[in-house]
Amino acid sequence: MELLKVIKERKSIRAFKPDIIPKETVEEILTLAANAPSAINLQPWELYVVMGDEKARLSRRLLKAYREKKISCSPGNVKPLAEQFSKRGVASFELMNPYLEKIGQDFNVFINEGSCNFYGAPVAIILCLDNAFSKARLVDIGIILGYITLIAYDFGLGTCPIGLISAYEDDIKELLDIPENKDVVIGIAIGYPDWTNPINEFKTPRDSIDSFVRWID
Ligand SMILES: Cc1cc2nc3c(=O)[nH]c(=O)nc-3n(C[C@H](O)[C@H](O)[C@H](O)COP(=O)(O)O)c2cc1C
Repeated sequence: MELLKVIKERKSIRAFKPDIIPKETVEEILTLAANAPSAINLQPWELYVVMGDEKARLSRRLLKAYREKKISCSPGNVKPLAEQFSKRGVASFELMNPYLEKIGQDFNVFINEGSCNFYGAPVAIILCLDNAFSKARLVDIGIILGYITLIAYDFGLGTCPIGLISAYEDDIKELLDIPENKDVVIGIAIGYPDWTNPINEFKTPRDSIDSFVRWID
């Protein structure tokens, strides 16, 4: 598929068919994604691909942890946000609401429990970074995340980045036997989109570049 078409059409998917993704397909996607640039070509990412019964076990553990600790999806600000950012946050919640009404779901339950369950996707990818790296290397993790989402779309798959799971890092590390010195940065839900679910009709808008670009010439 044409790259620009993929970039324009990709969106986060929050309802998946239970269909299994062949392991070779995931391997191909990750092999392509490894072409992502990284500082000094360090390729600092470490990925755990969780599927089958192990994925179900991971979802159960995360849901349990969420119900006990109740840490929700949030932007995780350090300081109050500038108006344009907080407005976008509120707008994206409001835009999703009519679709949630169609499926009779409460926003908080759907987003938080849904994220812990990787929205029912058959595959969950956990992206980790060795804690010997500086936080600057999170940029590299972000780049490979972007590559994976775009390449998966080209393969007819849907994805949703799942930042919430980093709040439950200890549970994930214990369950998946991830070494102590690896930080869980983010997860990705990946699977075949359930296009019959209205939540997948939802497409977030973008502000014009005038809202974030200052030309210096
Ligand atoms: C770093 C990051 C973390 C995210 N975490 C979550 C999450 O925990 N749960 C969720 O439902 N969506 C999550 N998302 C998806 C965003 O909500 C989504 O990308 C955004 O609303 C823009 O929509 P789009 O991906 O459909 O273009 C995350 C996206 C990014 C990039």
